[in-house]
Amino acid sequence: MCGIVGYTGKRRAGPILLDGLSRLEYRGYDSAGMAVRDGNKLAEVVKATGKLIHLADKTDQGRALEGTCGIGHTRWATHGDPSLVNAHPHVSGNCTGSASGPVESEVVGVHNGIIENYAELKEKLLRHGYTFYSDTDTEVLVKLVDYYYNKYKIGPVDAITRTMVRVRGSYALGLMFQDYPGEIFAARKDSPLIIGTEEDASYLASDVPAILKYTRDVYYIENLQVARISPGHVSFYDLNGDERSLPLTTITWDASAAEKEGYEHFMLKEIHEQPEAVQNTLNSLAAEDEIHLEEAGITQEFLAGLREVDIVACGSAWHVGMAARVLLEDLAGVPTRVELASEYRYRSIPTQDDTLVVIISQSGETADSLAALRAAKERGAATLAVVNVVGSSIAREADHVIYTKAGPEIAVATTKAYSAQLIVLYILAIALGAAKGRITSEQKAGYIRELRTIPDKIRRILEEKERLQWFSSKIVNAHDIFFIGRGLDYAMSLEGSLKMKEISYIHSEAYAAGELKHGTISLIENNTLVVGLLTQSALYEKTLSNMTECKARGAYLMGITPNGNFQVEDSVNFALYIPRTDEHFFPSLAVIPLQLLAYYTSVNRGLDVDKPRNLAKSVTVE
Ligand code: M6R
Repeated sequence: MCGIVGYTGKRRAGPILLDGLSRLEYRGYDSAGMAVRDGNKLAEVVKATGKLIHLADKTDQGRALEGTCGIGHTRWATHGDPSLVNAHPHVSGNCTGSASGPVESEVVGVHNGIIENYAELKEKLLRHGYTFYSDTDTEVLVKLVDYYYNKYKIGPVDAITRTMVRVRGSYALGLMFQDYPGEIFAARKDSPLIIGTEEDASYLASDVPAILKYTRDVYYIENLQVARISPGHVSFYDLNGDERSLPLTTITWDASAAEKEGYEHFMLKEIHEQPEAVQNTLNSLAAEDEIHLEEAGITQEFLAGLREVDIVACGSAWHVGMAARVLLEDLAGVPTRVELASEYRYRSIPTQDDTLVVIISQSGETADSLAALRAAKERGAATLAVVNVVGSSIAREADHVIYTKAGPEIAVATTKAYSAQLIVLYILAIALGAAKGRITSEQKAGYIRELRTIPDKIRRILEEKERLQWFSSKIVNAHDIFFIGRGLDYAMSLEGSLKMKEISYIHSEAYAAGELKHGTISLIENNTLVVGLLTQSALYEKTLSNMTECKARGAYLMGITPNGNFQVEDSVNFALYIPRTDEHFFPSLAVIPLQLLAYYTSVNRGLDVDKPRNLAKSVTVE
């Protein structure tokens, strides 16, 4: 959570920082701020509560700030409410923390993450005469750097490394020191941070889209490293203060991938990008009738030796795991557990070296998933990361990594990354089934051929989006929505329900259809919407019966089912048909109407689709 940017070069920093922040607003948007320096002069700090537009208004789009070196921040509150005083940047000097203008301060900083022992550190600093204006852990961090800097009369790099040794938690940090004009210092532990360079400028950011407009050459600063950044030049240091060299990576994305390109919202654009996301991911893993996982270091022998798969993830990525379990058991006959990362890390799950732990994550930075990955490695399992963001922490730390080829995903509600993750997990299940001799080469080839039809089938569903737009206008005032299904349909219900609640703020629940009668059915009232997923032929009748049990208690029914199941109209009030495919792959098709339903409901309710309240795209806190 929270987005960090920095710039040092020859141009006016304010507008560049604001532009970068606008591309990071998905990481948090309850307040924002910037600090900009003009040569030796004091840093000028400006903050505003609410969305970035307020900061832009307050600074004349950044132009009101003099200077060519600065740092900026967009916040998702962790310590302290979303107020002006708690907004970043924070400073080491004595001040009110809320006035705009030049600040007498040795150190100014922005931070993403959580300092777990901040209370203890604050006590120490209070004893040494520091005073505090905010409730944030960041102010403590900045003042601790200042403390070491002044006490030992050491340079910024040593003051920062001393601080890093004292703090527990996660951080990505951008700092400016009054004695070092034109320079920015950065450090990270378990929070993402990149540094971009061009001939006479350097950039700091939490994520690539913030700087893609200016440069494609980036460094991925490593965990527990410090960077010293000046125009066009960066040096890196480890915790001992020894200089380290890092490879420069060239970003190959198309810059337009991070723009809306005429769509009203990023989410709608990303929904429409799913055919390409699926196709590109599939092409990266399968050629002709063969699967290629060699690039991830996964061989036939490795797969054949696996006896168990544990899938660990959060949110929608966890839902992918719930669907994948069905395929891994069905096609590969491998017992599969699906665990929430925030739970997995605190359990002592017996793990053998023939267990593969698969961590699924779009951002590759989700704190719980990263911690679960580390726990899995400690427990001796082999680990595979399925990740979208290249070079992210989870991708770097896992034994094996398969990248989803979804491109940058900006909307907080995931769509195309989810679809791309499904493809990777289907491929893994097919490859595992083949390696274990559960499926023949012909069957494998048949599955791959069928998967190649998915992008066009998604396009066909998207062509009929107006029906969902119309239907969503009828449910715009709903209080509760239930999504039900069995087996793979249950996994899809989970995703449909999360999409609906996170962007429309309508309470919704996903239920295994057969489980409703054990309590939850008492919540069904007149006109409660029940969305039934009916894609699995063996479970169709059973789920439909559970839906009609709800109808008998007043529910309004929507059914999502393959083309040809027209008899469903005898039972449901609104039927939505999707193209036919192999039953294992229906999640890739059924999810599309669920995404569109949530999207249009949010739009019809006049909500901020791309940046729903209280959320952030990348959850880098525990
Ligand atoms: O980046 P990750 O895939 O690790 O994120 C996991 C969840 O936070 C994420 O899927 C979240 O549930 C989405 N907002 C759902 O749309």
